[in-house]
Amino acid sequence: MTRREFAACLSSAALTRADQPPAEGKADFTLRIGPVAVELAPHRITRTTGYNGLAPGPLLRMKEGRPVAIDVYNDTGDPEIVHWHGLHIPSNVDGSMEEGSPMIPPHGRQRYMFTPAPAGTRWYHTHVSAGRNLKRGLYSGQFGLLIVDPKSGDPGNYDQEIFLTLREWDPWMSMGEGDEGSLDAAYKYFSVNDRALGSGDPVRVKPGQRVLLRILNASATITRRFAFAGHKFHVLALDGNPVARPCDVEAVELGPAERIDALVEMNNPGKWILGATLDHDRNGGMGIIFEYAGQTGEARWIAPPDTPWDYRIFGKPPAAPSDAESVSLVFRKLFAGHRWVDKWSINGKSWPKTDPIRVRAGRRYRLIFDNPSDEAHPLHLHRHTFELTKVDGVATGGVFKDVVVVQPKTKVEAELVANNPGLSLFHCHQQMHMDYGFMAMMEYV
Ligand code: C2O
Ligand code: CU
Repeated sequence: MTRREFAACLSSAALTRADQPPAEGKADFTLRIGPVAVELAPHRITRTTGYNGLAPGPLLRMKEGRPVAIDVYNDTGDPEIVHWHGLHIPSNVDGSMEEGSPMIPPHGRQRYMFTPAPAGTRWYHTHVSAGRNLKRGLYSGQFGLLIVDPKSGDPGNYDQEIFLTLREWDPWMSMGEGDEGSLDAAYKYFSVNDRALGSGDPVRVKPGQRVLLRILNASATITRRFAFAGHKFHVLALDGNPVARPCDVEAVELGPAERIDALVEMNNPGKWILGATLDHDRNGGMGIIFEYAGQTGEARWIAPPDTPWDYRIFGKPPAAPSDAESVSLVFRKLFAGHRWVDKWSINGKSWPKTDPIRVRAGRRYRLIFDNPSDEAHPLHLHRHTFELTKVDGVATGGVFKDVVVVQPKTKVEAELVANNPGLSLFHCHQQMHMDYGFMAMMEYV
């Protein structure tokens, strides 16, 4: 161990709580950040940076409340960091340098130690800013699913559990769709997990089975609509948190970083495509085939009806208005010029100049997300979970999330109890928005 690694170990050991495992000894998980070549399909290879020679990285599965130690080796020449998205853990291990988590130096190591909670479908990913370098940050292959199983160990009522990570590859800077000519990311390849549609093994099912899908949109920039030809999704959880009213939908929609857990009843024998509703991207690889035993022939696609996605259908009637203190956050685009990347502001200022959101431990807050801009924003708050209380003027309750997509010209209200002191980053999860000013700090005073 080098002196620098030793010092990093000491400081992380000193900062973590007494209920953590020892700072030395065998880790529960090891991640190595390094180059990967992913064969999405024959002769369709993407080269990027990933974890343990994979992209997506390995599935990390842990138990709620049982402390873990994760060793991360940075085998690249750039400083890196890993964020554990959706967990209520201390700032110094959360994996955001803005919150005070240490960067992992090139060829260095960092041991992350924390007690995973709450239970549910979480994920992990790099948290470096990429700017115009589309090989870094979430444009790279540094992401993976992290499942926190509940303490009680309820296995759930299903026959198969299938993990689906939606992803685009090989980005480049292109002129955006707007008439202003701003720059945006475009992509060459598409996949579910590490395979393009039709090139991996199909998911093999039998009539009568219940399949639990755990879907993650690991896109750096794109919101996805997804459908399962011939089947419906029974949505159980959003961002890993059980919804008040599980119900059936023909298509699901996920902004960058959102997760959906859904049960699918296998009641329509055949070969079917589960995939992106956008033909270009599905035909470009973003899909996966489900094959019932004994079925052959071409897999079928059926476009779902155009029903708009609405978080409120999974909610319950709103509770009486709470005594939460309101915090208003207005998001605007600052047009940077033709062939430039636009900047974003929160209440008129861009990171690092944004005003911090100041909270007191134990108090309740209502965040009012006001998006007068003409783009949707997947907003994420670190280390906390919030409840949607109003979407586009209509009150709701019982939907708990850590990312919420606020549609253009729309307001969303979300309430949370400030229950995890320390610095907590708030940002748009669209990497190009986050890197260009759309970020603020939540601080406990
Ligand atoms: Cu998914 Cu700031 O992170
Ligand atoms: Cu945004």
